[in-house]
Amino acid sequence: MKLILLGPPGAGKGTQAKRLEDRRGLRQLATGDMLREAVKSGSELGQKADRIMKAGQLVPDGIVIQMIAERIDGKDCAKGIILDGFPRTVAQAEALDAMLTEQGVTLDAVLSYELPLEEIIARLSGRRTCPVCKSVYHTVTRSPRVKGVCDHCGGKLIQREDDRPESIRTRMLAYEKSTRPLLDYYRHIGSLVPVLASGTPEEILKRTLYSLNGVPGRV
Ligand code: AP5
Repeated sequence: MKLILLGPPGAGKGTQAKRLEDRRGLRQLATGDMLREAVKSGSELGQKADRIMKAGQLVPDGIVIQMIAERIDGKDCAKGIILDGFPRTVAQAEALDAMLTEQGVTLDAVLSYELPLEEIIARLSGRRTCPVCKSVYHTVTRSPRVKGVCDHCGGKLIQREDDRPESIRTRMLAYEKSTRPLLDYYRHIGSLVPVLASGTPEEILKRTLYSLNGVPGRV
């Protein structure tokens, strides 16, 4: 199964991707996580991405397309993939179409998570992440057992630099300008599945699975 998770920053794409991954053995490919790994490694690509990401802007298409092209037909993706944060521009969507055509496969669904702006800001400003195992928490809605410490690996939780107010504003603008047009792109080809992203993560997962019921090759 091949799924795309679309939605504004903080809509809960990563949270849902993890749940879908656990449930069906699909592989989450999150370009944000891949880029943060590159930053951590100090590679040339990472140094370039670091500045752009801190500001909340989009990394150039060529970089992220290359990253996905290197991963999409890996052995760990055999049961299916969940693209989280990719594509984010029409050029990226077209490049993905070409990759899937080359593999002789098609997209099953594009889940579009929708959430009001005030909830987005509340989710992003309270988010804390584990830099070691990538687990995601929230100061109000999903706090760890011990404050500031990851339940899974004991890592010290951090606030992402791009979750600060100035970067959040820029990320929302980038979403409106470059990513929102993808809703029409996928609606036009009949793959778009809107999902209301309010409520608890479990409620949203149920809604997601329900929405996928009518989709061939459903999870
Ligand atoms: P990326 O890491 O992809 O960030 P994003 O799309 O802005 O998405 P987020 O990770 O912020 O949010 P999410 O929707 O996954 O929400 P989450 O589940 O964490 O990208 C970062 C940067 O990398 C970009 O700005 C760009 O620079 C670059 N980049 C990445 N991909 C790119 C691409 N393709 N092209 C160009 N540049 C690219 O949830 C958020 C918070 O809410 C958490 O605290 C969570 O616990 C909480 N939460 C989640 N669900 C619920 C719920 N139901 N109820 C209450 N709280 C909840």
